[in-house]
This record gives sequence, C-alpha cells and structure tokens, in this order.
Amino acid sequence: MPKRSTSLALALPPRGSGAPAARWLTGALRSEILEGRLRPGARLPATRDLARQYALSRGTIVSAFAQLASEGYVEGSVGSGTYVSQTLPEDLLHAGRAALVPEPRRRNPRRALSAYGRSAQLFPGYRLRPTRAFRADQPALDLFPTTLWAQLSARRLRRATANLLLGTSPMGHLPLREAVADYVRTARGVQCTAEQVAIVSGVQESLDLVTRLFVDPGDRVCMEDPGYPGAALAFRAYGAKVSALAVDAEGMTIPRGPARLAYITPGHQFPLGISMSLRRRLAVLDWAYLSGALILEDDYDSEYRYAGRPVPALQGLDRRGIVLFAGSFSKVMFPSLRLGYLVVPPDLVDVVTATLSITSRHAPLVDQAILCDFIADGHFARHIRRMREIYAERLGVLLDGARTHLAGLLTIAGLEAGLQTAAWLEGIDARAATKAAAERDVDVTPLAIYAVRQNTRAAREGLHLGFAAVDSQEIRRGVRDLAAAIETLT
Ligand SMILES: Cc1ncc(COP(=O)(O)O)c(C=O)c1O
Repeated sequence: MPKRSTSLALALPPRGSGAPAARWLTGALRSEILEGRLRPGARLPATRDLARQYALSRGTIVSAFAQLASEGYVEGSVGSGTYVSQTLPEDLLHAGRAALVPEPRRRNPRRALSAYGRSAQLFPGYRLRPTRAFRADQPALDLFPTTLWAQLSARRLRRATANLLLGTSPMGHLPLREAVADYVRTARGVQCTAEQVAIVSGVQESLDLVTRLFVDPGDRVCMEDPGYPGAALAFRAYGAKVSALAVDAEGMTIPRGPARLAYITPGHQFPLGISMSLRRRLAVLDWAYLSGALILEDDYDSEYRYAGRPVPALQGLDRRGIVLFAGSFSKVMFPSLRLGYLVVPPDLVDVVTATLSITSRHAPLVDQAILCDFIADGHFARHIRRMREIYAERLGVLLDGARTHLAGLLTIAGLEAGLQTAAWLEGIDARAATKAAAERDVDVTPLAIYAVRQNTRAAREGLHLGFAAVDSQEIRRGVRDLAAAIETLT
C-alpha cells in the first residue's frame, strides 16, 4: 500500500480536565487509527503543527508518537514523518473494522423485513477495544495454551475420519456431550445424561434457540434488572415483552403473574455477582411450575470460584423438568471458539434436535472433537486450576490496590466467582467516572448500561471492573489512575 500524505487538521476530541496531555494525545490518536479515520499509510501531521493546533509542547507530541510506535500503531522517524503502520496487529485492524459496523446505514425502505428482521439489533459488544485495566468479559487470552491446542488440532486432522469431515448429530459430537454431561454433573450438580446435552455456539445460541422454541410475539419473558443485555436483545428480536425484575440480596425477585420464560444467572448474577439464595431458588422454581413458565439458567463463568462453597445449579433442584441449563466455553477456553452447551429436559430432546438440524445443522465438528480431546487428556481440568490461581491473584491485587488507593472513593463488592466484579462509588456518578477513567486509559463500565431502572444505586453509582484480562502490573496502574480519575470528580 502506498504511503498517503494527509494534510488533514485532525479533529481530536477535547482533552478532559486533569488528563495528562501525552496520555490524552496517545489515546486520541490511537482511536483515530482504530476507528479507521487514520488509515494504514496515512501520514500524521507534523509535530510542529499538532503542537500549535492543540497548544502542547513538541516534547509531548514526540512522546505520544513514541508510545504509539512502541505499540505498533505508527512507524517512521523524526525528520521523515510519522505514518500509520501498514500492517497493524491483527486484532487492532479488526477493531478498526468492527468500529465501522455500527455506523448507521440507511436501509432501502422497499426492503420488506420480517418482524424479526425489523426488531434485531446489533449486540454492542462487537466494538472491540484495546485490552487494558479493567476490561470486563475477557479472560487472559495471552495465557491460553495455543501451542498445545495446535498440537491437538494437528493430531485430530492427521487422523481425520470421513465422519469427522462429514458431520454429526445436530446435538453434537457424542464423546463431547458425554464429557460435558460428566463435567456439569460433577462440578455443577446438574442432573442429566449425555442425550440431554446439545453442543451449541455459546450461551447466545442457547438464548436464540430457547426463545425460538418457546416464545411467541407478545409473550412475557422475565429477566434480572440489571441483567445481561444480549439476552434482552435475543428476546426482543422475537417480539417478546421483557419484564425486568429487580435483584435484591438474595437474587432476582419473584415475578408476579405468569410468563413464558424466565432467564436467570443464579450462580453468579450478571452483573452484580450475587449468588441466588436457596430460599429464592425454591421460590422461583415454585413460581415457574405454578405459572407454566420455563427457566433458562445461564451458568456463565461458574468455573472460577475464589471463596464460599460452590452453589449447585438451580437445574439440580428441579424435579419437574422446567429448567434448561446453559453454559459456555467462551471464558474458560477462548471466546472465538464459539462452543457451549444447553442441557434440556428429556422430553425436549427431539424438538431441540429438529430445530438445530434446520438452523446451525450442528456446531463445527472439528472444533468439537479437538475440545473433546483437550478435556479427555486432562488439559481442561489443568487449565481451569491454573487460571483459577492466576485470577485469584489478580483479584487480590485489585482488592489490595483498592484498599490502598480507592478507600472512600470506590468499594468493591465481595466477589466469590467470575472474572469481573461490581464496585460502588461513594456519591459519584458512574457515567462521569467512566468518562474520567477512559481519559486515563482505564476501562470501566457503568452498571447503568445493564439496567432498565435508572433510579437505583447500581445504575447511579455502580461500576463493572474486570480483573482477568490483564496482568498484576496493569491492574496496579489501573487502580492508581482510576483513583486519580475519580478524585477529579470529588
Ligand atoms: C452473562 C452472560 N451470558 C452469556 C454470555 C454470552 O456468552 P457466549 O460467548 O457463550 O455466547 C455472556 C457474554 O459476555 C454473558 O456475560
């Protein structure tokens, strides 16, 4: 690709009060590149011009360029100009393209979409961004044993049978279904046989499948508030009326009146982290039974528990066949694997099989077989053990750092499981804190974006902090910079 010169006067977003100049400029230029406004090969404005335009010292500009060069975003040398790198790291390139996806594009008004097509909305999580403290929803991708995965993949493909290339039952690769059934019975107290296990493309496909099968337009679906937005989008795409139920110290409150479906995260409530009490579990099962509702239990992130006794799945308490249990390999392995499982009551196996046969046909079989080998050879259990130790240490660094630097500003809720935690500001607006933190390269999420009710403390003062994706050093840096950011608001 030829080098392009740019005479553009960059329109960078304003610098927030208190943000160090070099960090602000680095972040703003990085966003220009990631979001595709500065294309590979584009020449950055001369340091002299940028200094004049933004009233900064040339030293500040040179240090921002040096930081971007060390991250691989730009290349070039003093005197000959600085250019956006021709080959950006792959994930950053994707981030740039993904950022273009949500641009509103006018739909041809004569294109007649179905009711589903008119209701489907883009899940906002596709906007990829650099990994830094305290990015939530991401495991430590750099610690996944990719070399081992490559060896297992090569071995599988070297020994590929015709069946491996041909296909399998819509419910998935039987040895993997057996391994999953063993795992959820032992680790999660789920009652099932392998026949009840469908291998799907993550919890998101389970949400789609269950809504498709049980929810008609106008039906009521209950879920937690705050709750997982990907679920609400899946329900609404099928025309469901979503009832958002408050979450208290025991978990989701019991719905009043009937519904078709209740979607719950009882093990580790998303995003507050509360584990549903036994009393509430029994009450929600009774409500579902009496009102003719099904329950979809989302057991996301339950592999990583740091304190307290593991609470067995709600499905394990169900004697009436009303709970469907969904889990995922996205966090425990890696998100792009797109494999998960849905455990259904025996009488639903046929209809789930039929539906999968005319939707995904089945989840990618080669990946299912490799994952199955990973589990059978003992790597899965080893990987969970290793990552649990690492995440526990990272959580400890976050909690220690918070005690030292964030006392009086932010309290982190006691966390028992998962890769992210809720945290509570003291009388400070969570959206303002998120903005101030972003100016210091700290990635926190206001709980308000998961909430329907905006007049609760969670929506006003709650933040979501991930601690798994980055190392201890970055967590310490993040805590210090988050404290500085919040202090600007006090
Ligand atoms: C609570 C919750 N459930 C489900 C999902 C979707 O997971 P999957 O990658 O298995 O589709 C997510 C993703 O972040 C999540 O946070």
